[in-house]
Amino acid sequence: MGALEEIKARVNLVDLIGRYVVLKPAGKNYKARCPFHPDDTPSLMVSPEKGLWHCFGCGAGGDAIGFLMRIERLSFAEALAKLAQELGVEVRGGEGRSRLLQVNQEALRYFQRGLLGPEGEKARAYLLSRGLGERLWERWGLGYAPPAWDGLLRALSRFGVQTLLELGLAVAGERGPYDRFRDRVMFAIRDEGGRVVAFAGRAFEGEPKYLNTPNTPLFTKGTVLYGLDLAKEAIRRRGQAVVVEGYTDVISLHAAGIEEAVASMGTSLTPDQARLLSRYAEEVVIAYDRDAAGEASALRGMLILRQAGLRVRVASLPPGEDPDSFVRQAGGEAMRAVLGQAQPFQKFFLAALASRHDLSRTEGKEAALREAQALWPEITSPALRLELLTGLASLLSLPPEEVQEALRGVRRPVPAPEREPAEPLLTPEDLVVRFLLEGKLPDPVVSELLAEEERFCPAYREVVRRWAEARAAGERPAPADLLTGVSPEAAARTARALLTELRVPDEARVLEEALARFLYLPRLTRRMEEVRAALREAEARADGEAVRRLSLEFQHLCRQRLELLRKR
Ligand code: GTP
Ligand code: MN
Repeated sequence: MGALEEIKARVNLVDLIGRYVVLKPAGKNYKARCPFHPDDTPSLMVSPEKGLWHCFGCGAGGDAIGFLMRIERLSFAEALAKLAQELGVEVRGGEGRSRLLQVNQEALRYFQRGLLGPEGEKARAYLLSRGLGERLWERWGLGYAPPAWDGLLRALSRFGVQTLLELGLAVAGERGPYDRFRDRVMFAIRDEGGRVVAFAGRAFEGEPKYLNTPNTPLFTKGTVLYGLDLAKEAIRRRGQAVVVEGYTDVISLHAAGIEEAVASMGTSLTPDQARLLSRYAEEVVIAYDRDAAGEASALRGMLILRQAGLRVRVASLPPGEDPDSFVRQAGGEAMRAVLGQAQPFQKFFLAALASRHDLSRTEGKEAALREAQALWPEITSPALRLELLTGLASLLSLPPEEVQEALRGVRRPVPAPEREPAEPLLTPEDLVVRFLLEGKLPDPVVSELLAEEERFCPAYREVVRRWAEARAAGERPAPADLLTGVSPEAAARTARALLTELRVPDEARVLEEALARFLYLPRLTRRMEEVRAALREAEARADGEAVRRLSLEFQHLCRQRLELLRKR
């Protein structure tokens, strides 16, 4: 058992939280006044059974490590070390570590042989088709994991199965261990010293798109920046880092001469990653694809960078492009120009709010304020606060004092001390995630959901991806394991979805309705819009045949929609 698993297996959530607040038993759970906001009802709920906590007042939540990080203001690694010390768990260092690194290096060689060998034909063709030429393969530690279930297990058998399991290279199945990565294009993930600490494997098709090494003694999610080993010199020289989302983005940018690019690897930036960057850079330019950049989790990541003392600017790529696709098509110089025009964070933040809400309407203003309010506690610099405050006030056409008031306000449940906090409502999305993690969705539905993962909000996407990866690797992860090391938003939302009591007589019906509202209805609606547009076009062209066909389809869709609605 690795140190992390051991810590998680041994830590007692109730004891841990009980050191900071007074817990009162409430059925299977415990309740307390929440330490993270002024709370006059006990809104904090702790479930020892699930290993999760959640505050129904302020929305915070997660696992044991997440609680300790938040209340003691620690990084993930610091919280882990503290727990390890208290529980007397040995965190591996020194000799053990260098042996594990050597095993990973051997695994990389195995993947590299796979890429160059006869079985690697498909992978070679794939990399070339994506503009990743041979000269990049060695430099970036690219490889291929052949399809066999025991290829790596055999090739590295001399290190012992236990070690391969510990490094996440193999998975313990019911009928024995097997290779985690099969038939995938492999990316070596190295720390800033160039040591291979983990891998990511990209599927040619199917889900999940990327399979990652889980947390191991060498690798904790959210503590590494992909490409930093090869980027740090350029970052230091320029005083600037470019942060992108994906592996291919980093490789393509470097190939085009933008060697200060690193990736956060699909999640929003963590304090650990920000600290890492601040060792080399003064300024960070964020280059995400356009939609992703404005999302709340991306904005939070930018604030985390600011907290680490970095200047932050945000680049705007043309709609529909990510840095990889853009740089390959438009070239390094065009990309440099885009980076040069990046907007200061403050401007971008306000523009992102304005683009997401209709600020000419009261509801839009309220929604924008709520969103800013959620991020406000994380803005500690008085100068930045003032600047954003003035900007927001003029954006919303409200007096600055009012905006300030609203931003300072704390959301609390109705102040009735002895009453239960009002039962929070779960959205269809919350319910779908809950049923998914509880293993209550049939396989075909799971596949449909994973194929349309962009439907989930970014916080849930993080958790759903992890769940899908663990499942693809043959594991059955407990929710508390999935939440270790995810962003605070992801942990909070998921804990809430799982800990909210469902007082319903018929769970199957609730499930069906949630799926209809989250997946099927939006899908139908979108298709109807497409057909309607095509119909209009066909009419304009006076294409009678097409008009007939499209009208039929439209009627059919309407009927389906009615049926879905009638079932509810
Ligand atoms: P390509 O399609 O190979 O170009 O990937 P991309 O890098 O453009 O992927 P995308 O924009 O979909 O995602 C950006 C980054 O998010 C990836 O590089 C990964 O780091 C991460 N990511 C995407 N899909 C998954 C997934 O299924 N699991 C995990 N763990 N990460 C993912
Ligand atoms: Mn891409």
